[in-house]
This record gives sequence, C-alpha cells and structure tokens, in this order.
Amino acid sequence: MLTLDYSNCLSDRVGSHGIDPDQLAAGGESAASLAALTKRLATSRTQPGGWERWRELHRDPMRSEHLGAIKPLAERLRARTDNLVVLGIGGSALGNIALQGALNPATHNLLPDGKRNGPRMFVVDNVDPAYFGGVLDYLQSVDPKLERTLFNVVSKSGETAETAAQFMVIRDLLKKHGRKGADHVVAVTDPAKGTMRQICNAEGYTTLPVPDGVGGRFSVLSPVGLFSAAMCGIDIDGLLDGAASMDEPTAREDFRRNPAAMIAFLLVELGTRKGKVNHVMMPYANNLYLLADWFRQLWAESLGKKNDVQGDTVYAGFTPIKALGTTDQHSQVQLYREGPNDKVFCLLEVDTPGFSKSDIIIPTGLGVEAIKYLEGKSMAVLLNAEKRATEYALLESQRPNFTIRFPKIDAYHVGQFIFLWEMVTAYAGLMLNIDAYDQPAVELGKQATFGLMGRPGYEKHLKAVNNALAPTSHMIGS
Ligand code: PA5
Repeated sequence: MLTLDYSNCLSDRVGSHGIDPDQLAAGGESAASLAALTKRLATSRTQPGGWERWRELHRDPMRSEHLGAIKPLAERLRARTDNLVVLGIGGSALGNIALQGALNPATHNLLPDGKRNGPRMFVVDNVDPAYFGGVLDYLQSVDPKLERTLFNVVSKSGETAETAAQFMVIRDLLKKHGRKGADHVVAVTDPAKGTMRQICNAEGYTTLPVPDGVGGRFSVLSPVGLFSAAMCGIDIDGLLDGAASMDEPTAREDFRRNPAAMIAFLLVELGTRKGKVNHVMMPYANNLYLLADWFRQLWAESLGKKNDVQGDTVYAGFTPIKALGTTDQHSQVQLYREGPNDKVFCLLEVDTPGFSKSDIIIPTGLGVEAIKYLEGKSMAVLLNAEKRATEYALLESQRPNFTIRFPKIDAYHVGQFIFLWEMVTAYAGLMLNIDAYDQPAVELGKQATFGLMGRPGYEKHLKAVNNALAPTSHMIGS
C-alpha cells in the first residue's frame, strides 16, 4: 500500500503554521464532520444522474465491460501499430500522459521496434501548429503512408474546438494517403450522444465509451486512459486492482485511518484557516512527475469555484503547483523556504528498494576528496537522502508538508494514487461546500473562441470580445 505521513503538518512540528493535534482527537469536531462526509459519500456514489460514477470504474459491471472491450481491441491493433497518437485535451489527455510517464520509460519512443512496450505514443493536447505539424511530419517520415499509425481521438462531447480541429486534420491526412479512417481511428466518446458519436456512427469508427456520470478529469481509469495504456503494454488490470484496493481505506469513518479524508482535511484546513492556498506536489521520481500535472487539473478545475452549492459567492479553491525533486531544489526551494509561507507540500517518495531494477551505483576510484563521499553509493539512496533533507529544511522554515510513499512505481500503486486523489477531491469538494464536478468558468472562453472562429450563434460573444479587448494606447512595442 501507499503510505501517508502527515506529521510535518502538525503544530508540534511547524508551530502556528500547522494543525493543532487536538483537532485530530477521536470524538472531536473534525472527526465528527469527516465521518458525516464519509457517510454522504457512501450513498452518493451510485446516485442516478450524479457525477460520481468514476467510483465504479474498478468494479463490475463497468470493469468487466471496459476490460472486455479494450483488451481484445488493443491486442489486435498492437500487432499492426507502430505509432499511436492520442488527440484530446484536459481530462481527455492528462491521464493518458500521466500513465505513460509513470509506467513506461522516458525513452519509450526512442526505443527500436521490438524493444518498445508497444507503439510509440504521442499525446497531442494542443493546437499549436508547430507542435502538431511536427508530430505529423515525424509520423510521415517513419511511416510514409500512415499504414502503421493509429489515431485515438478522445472527446466526450466531440465539440471541443482543439480536438475537433486535430481530428479534421488527421481525417483529411488519412484520406490523402488512401487510408480507410475506420482502420486508423479509435474514438473514445459518449456512447449515445454528442457530435463525436454522430461522426463515429457516420464514418464507422471503432469506439469505446466515456461512461455516463464520469467527467473528463475523473476519467483516466475508464477507456479514456485505459485504451492507450493497454496499447503501450501497461498493466490495466493492475491499475484497476490498485484503485479497488483504495476503496476500503478511503471509506473509513475514522478520518485518522482514512488517507483521503485526512489529506482533504489537512489541505482544506491549512488552505482556508492558515493561508496555505498554494498546494505543491513534488515527486522525488521523474516517473511520477506527470501525475503531478494530472493532479493540477483535478485540484484546480474541481475546487476553483466562485459559488458554493447554495449559490453564495465564496471564491473557493487552491492553486496546485508541480515541482520535481531533486531538480527543483536548485530552482524553487529557495522560494519555498524563504518566500511567503502560503504553501503546503505533498512530497512523493519511492522506497529505495522500489528502485532496485533501475538503481545505479556511483563508481569508486575517482578519488577526488570533495566528492569522495558519493563513491559506492546508490543513486536511489542519494535521491531519497535529498528528499529527506528537503523535508527537514522545509520543517526548519515551518513549512507544512506531507509525504506519500510508494513501495515501488507500478500499475497497482499508480492506480491507488489516482483513486486516492480522486477521493481526496471528492472530500475537499464537500468540505468547501462546492460542486467539484462542474467547470462553469471554462465555458466563457470556449464560447468566445467559437465567436472568434465564426461559429454561427456566437456573434454576440465575438462582439463582446472585441469590445473588451479594443486596443488602447497602453502598449509598448514597434
Ligand atoms: O475535465 C474536464 O471535464 C475537461 O478537462 C474536459 O476533459 C476537456 O474540456 C475535454 O472535453 P471533451 O472530452 O468533451 O473534449
């Protein structure tokens, strides 16, 4: 199991910047309110029309349905695919990126055929033409007729401008190469409705579902994340087993034994009462770094809300930040220790034996006095010593921090981590009394884009943008 050590969030370690240990007492106010939230969560998971069906993804019937569809499809397509290109954005991309980053080597795409764990994988989650065009040029250089290239279009709605634009480009490109779209596109979208569903039906694409009641940022353990993972040889059973193993601990009524309730309590309490409104996730393992990106979306989009559920203005939310240990010790830690004390740090650590397959021993023999202490030591030991040193240094500056420890990085523990943070977010949403599943503030930008791009019906948005952004004299430049 993952372990959580939150000692460094308490006032006996970080003084007035931490939580009074009395607040954790059995039978106390916090214990009672967290237990009440746990009871609410026990009933909301299957609420019809609700948005918590992500909590069912690792259970039957959804688990069997999804694995039953994904596994044979991935097995068949792996044999004829050298390049897999995921087209999606936000919750339709960040999970895919995180799984690949966590569970395949950073050099995955550079390895020769036969040495890679599946096809090369590209997740194009932007419409920057230089970036997208660069990927398309590369694909055509290694696979001139796109015979061995598969596009995995992920969009619940099918209306997201970025994904729609990318899709239109690749559809055209496949046509130009004389390829049948149906052989080269797997779409993950709403099973019944939406623009992408209509296109898929018309063009005969293979599809996998984004299940009802599962929003984008909670969808990584659905076909949204699992299909591309399976294509690249990731143990998708292990991911779901790991998530399932977090079910019981995150449903414990005693929050001192419930890691999700405890993390939510620490972050919300420190954020709302102690001014720690910035939440840094800092893995000490490169493989976990992109999970911090996935966390950033989950935390920001779920909790950043103007109104509470009663409609009162609250401006809730915290700013998630990602950092990497040890790299950011030489970039951010000066600020983290001596800048404003407005952050909580979530450090991710991998037990040293967890690196055993990849560990590197620093050779002996150089004999230079100043760096001789490194000779014969393992890099994993050095990495974890630096983590411990940073933890101590943060404590010396009274900066609250906690550690989530992985016994090793594998699908099982990554599945645990994902489900844990989804549950933390559900608890935090209830504590903040906001709707963690909507994203109303994202809509205006989407509508303004429609207006700017000439979509009928959005003329008033175009006008509003042009009025608001009319040029003034306050500019410097040529
Ligand atoms: O979390 C979310 O809901 C969003 O980030 C969506 O995933 C993102 O906007 C993409 O939406 P869609 O899958 O409909 O293209």
